[in-house]
Amino acid sequence: WKLLPTMNSQLSVCKLLTHWNSDLTLVDGTKECIYFVGNSLGLQPKMAKKYIDEELDKWAKTKNVFESYIRAMGIKSPLCVCVCVRTGAKPEEVALMNGLTVNLHILLLSFYKPTAKRHKILLEDKAFPSDHYAVESQIQLKGYDPKRSMLLMKPRPGEEVLRTEDILDTIEKEGDSIAVVLFSGVQYYTGQLFDMAAITKAGQKKGCYVGFDCAHAVGNAELKLHDWGVDFACWCSYKYVNSGAGGLAGAFIHEKNALTVKPALTGWWGHNLKTRFRMDNEMDLLPGISGFRLSNQPILLVCPLQASLEVFAMTSMAALRNKSRLLTGYLECLIQHYYNKDESQPHKPYVHIITPSHPEERGCQLSLSFSVPIAAIFQELEKRGVACDMREPNVLRIAPVPLYNSFSDVHRFITVLGSALAASKELQQ
Ligand SMILES: *Cc1c(COP(=O)(O)O)cnc(C)c1O
Ligand SMILES: *[C@@H]1O[C@H](CO)[C@@H](O)[C@H](O)[C@H]1NC(C)=O
Repeated sequence: WKLLPTMNSQLSVCKLLTHWNSDLTLVDGTKECIYFVGNSLGLQPKMAKKYIDEELDKWAKTKNVFESYIRAMGIKSPLCVCVCVRTGAKPEEVALMNGLTVNLHILLLSFYKPTAKRHKILLEDKAFPSDHYAVESQIQLKGYDPKRSMLLMKPRPGEEVLRTEDILDTIEKEGDSIAVVLFSGVQYYTGQLFDMAAITKAGQKKGCYVGFDCAHAVGNAELKLHDWGVDFACWCSYKYVNSGAGGLAGAFIHEKNALTVKPALTGWWGHNLKTRFRMDNEMDLLPGISGFRLSNQPILLVCPLQASLEVFAMTSMAALRNKSRLLTGYLECLIQHYYNKDESQPHKPYVHIITPSHPEERGCQLSLSFSVPIAAIFQELEKRGVACDMREPNVLRIAPVPLYNSFSDVHRFITVLGSALAASKELQQ
């Protein structure tokens, strides 16, 4: 509780940023819901609708809007610069394009060049399914066998998260046969924030390319993709970046690879802008990630992303992280206080936190594992206006997002959890 005075001083950050529609209400309509699924779909920025409407008007009234699109999406555009600030990249290292899984495929097509000696991809055992499938199919595409070439890292027996030392050890031991090391920045299930700098260094020392899927890290953790020397990265923008489901994704290629790593697939949007419209079918490929762009941008997806990034521009990742540490720390503290395993009451349900406890090893999300099945508890939470995410048989993922969640959200959640546990227990009896 000693933390409380500091927390109050942080609340101003949150107030500045309440730019959100909050018409999601409790079932009885009296109170706002507690929205803890920003890790899955971030809240809608208020300006999103306005920008989309404006764009639709422009479309209805103007002959050729392509010109303004090009301006909106150029590497010097405010949009791109803002994304760069979030990811610690240089403008020419980032492109906004496609969806996340598409970008992962496009990047792997160029970075995964297996040879008989070096053919493996190292990734988490329980990576997000899309990443698992992408890697599996890329290995097959190159004529290798996923059983031999997919190196899946498991936590130690009885443990739930990977130890950095074990990851570095595996890279050291297996590195000579690994073509690509691919981790998430923040693990979607456990909420673990990986030591991207150390993994990058270790992988590259062994001659591997190192890439990250930053879906759960961008807008959540401080990223320094350029300074860490990460070879490539990709992310989606509808989780912590609030651009709406299916929003425009991002991709990063470090400038050191700009001239050596070429796109396997090309399209007209990778062509030098100065000569693109000559239509002479002589490819003048842009260096780096810009050359990987295939199609012109979906402007209606740019609108909500722009609206969201304008909100982000009012603060910094450092300030958000400061609040995030306290907010998630507060949740952790309350869970441990009220729902710790109590040996004197063996029948009382308890909650175990899977996510690492060290603030440097996690983002804002806590993954809670319950000693009882959670389907009924989840239902009771929903009835009481809590939006969170359930993974059978017994895990809830709770994401107090520093941009729009408050300390009182966390406090209310703990109270509601108590009554949900009690109600679900009654149901079971
Ligand atoms: C959310 C998420 C995805 C989703 O992929 P889409 O192509 O955006 O549908 C993929 N990978 C990870 C790690 C994710 O967290
Ligand atoms: C974050 O917190 C640290 C330590 O309390 C402080 O020194 C720093 O100024 C804060 N940064 C921002 C941007 O608020």
